[in-house]
Amino acid sequence: MKKRWIIASVILLAAAIVAILMYYLDNKKSSEKAPEFVLLYAENQTENYPTTLGGKKFADLVYERTDGRIKIQIKYGAELGSESSVINQMKYGGVAFARVSVSQLAERIPEMNVLLLPYLYDDSAHMWRVLEGDIGDQFLEKAGNYDLVGLSWYDAGARNFYSSDKPITSVEDCEGMNIRVQESTMMADMISALGANPVEIVYSDVYSALEQGIVDAAENNWPSYESMNHYKVAKYYTIDEHVRVPEMQICSEAVWNMLSDSDKEIIKECAEESALYERQLWIQREERSKKKAIESGTLVTALTAEEKKKFRDAMSDVYEKYCGDDMDLVREIIDY
Ligand code: GCU
Repeated sequence: MKKRWIIASVILLAAAIVAILMYYLDNKKSSEKAPEFVLLYAENQTENYPTTLGGKKFADLVYERTDGRIKIQIKYGAELGSESSVINQMKYGGVAFARVSVSQLAERIPEMNVLLLPYLYDDSAHMWRVLEGDIGDQFLEKAGNYDLVGLSWYDAGARNFYSSDKPITSVEDCEGMNIRVQESTMMADMISALGANPVEIVYSDVYSALEQGIVDAAENNWPSYESMNHYKVAKYYTIDEHVRVPEMQICSEAVWNMLSDSDKEIIKECAEESALYERQLWIQREERSKKKAIESGTLVTALTAEEKKKFRDAMSDVYEKYCGDDMDLVREIIDY
């Protein structure tokens, strides 16, 4: 009898605790203020890709430092459209933030092509010296030429060629190949300079273009090659590091102008912190992606210095064509 009484009391007590807890949580929820701004952030990579995780970090930091007044929703996997379409939507504030490849900004702000010239940087450290210095700041400002605000730089490593049927070991191997390029006239010209046919295809369609043989080859960094499953349909990867195309976190100027000065400062600071985070993730992911691809059958060709020079020489015409007016700046970057 006594035992039953104890069990009943314990049950009653537990029920009371649950009820109090639910009442408390409910009250807390209704007393939490709704955010003043709910803003969309576009990302075309997959959920756990370094840039997507960087974007999430940015959103969390902004939410925390504005006490929940600014909520940023990350839409990854190109849910809001291709990079090009997102940049267009940002002109009117439909999309507030994005992380985009600078090649897509360069289509609208041609001076930006300087940053993605072939074989411009010696290595990653060289590119980061440039981006973190005055030159990098000047280029963030240039985003204003297309009603955008440049917030921070993200890493995207170096791009290499990969092909389906045969490895690319020399410039001659590229002759007549259909090679996918980003929607970028300068990148297309670089491919033509190798005697290949550039085919502009949006990122999300590259896998099927390789699979269906619409293109014979493409070029990208290790994490993109792996995360988009390109390695499953193009197993020859040639390390030539022909370009490093940095990525920029941007904000729509239309949205930016609605924010207070202190919120602008918070956003800028969170973007910069998230960029440092993304750069750490990038280094780890590059290694993991490379390992995964090689374990799955990717065959790597490393170009000899002599061969690499031939690629560099073949592509050098784009310097004059796209950056002829900025050759002093190009030289400054090379010596930086
Ligand atoms: C990289 C870059 C993307 C871009 C893609 C492409 O993966 O991070 O932003 O869309 O290259 O080749 O189109």
